[in-house]
Amino acid sequence: MNSPHPPLLRDARPEDLEALCRLEQACFAGDRFSRRQLSHLLKRANAVTRVVVDADGELQGYGTLLFRRNSRTARLYSFCVHPALRGGGVGRRLLNALEAVAVDRGMQRLSLEVRADNRVAMGLYRRMGYLPRRWLDDYYVDGCAAWQMDKPLGASTPAESVTPAAAAPSPIG
Ligand SMILES: CC(C)(COP(=O)(O)OP(=O)(O)OC[C@H]1O[C@@H](n2cnc3c(N)ncnc32)[C@H](O)[C@@H]1OP(=O)(O)O)[C@@H](O)C(=O)NCCC(=O)NCCS
Repeated sequence: MNSPHPPLLRDARPEDLEALCRLEQACFAGDRFSRRQLSHLLKRANAVTRVVVDADGELQGYGTLLFRRNSRTARLYSFCVHPALRGGGVGRRLLNALEAVAVDRGMQRLSLEVRADNRVAMGLYRRMGYLPRRWLDDYYVDGCAAWQMDKPLGASTPAESVTPAAAAPSPIG
């Protein structure tokens, strides 16, 4: 994308649902979230979704974190960037921003699962400090295995310090 305006990051809103569905279609070949699942994700109290928005207001990426009661480990539940925008550092910045959200909520660790054949995502995660912890056989519907990876965040702030609604849009370019 050659826009002079860097993409922005903001929290997802209910009205983003259709755009999130389109993004999911564009980004994943299989194992996609349905509209119903995405709608549920946007409403879940224990989930935070940040979206990447370009200068035209189009959604170009999103990432969702899940939090569990009594756990200091957040889970990266979904993470993608539109194919047209890939390779420009948006994924890295989105993941950095999600890590900051997790830190603000008092999380000490971020974990994720990644397809064993997803070299680009695994490469990004490794370079950002995630280590493979567990091999999960037959994890995806097509039988592909996954690596569970995680990273210590060194969080020290209380979980209540930031609510999703309080986070303002921020430039990521
Ligand atoms: C994984 C994903 C989110 C990365 O987004 P992105 O915006 O391309 O990420 P970045 O531009 O920050 O690039 C990430 C790194 O991968 C490299 N990279 C990007 N595309 C690449 C490609 N096709 N081949 C090899 N390396 C590539 C970049 O050079 C960059 O390297 P760096 O960290 O050394 O700078 C994106 O590829 C994507 O949406 N993939 C499909 C969905 C997916 O797999 N999600 C992850 C599920 S676990």
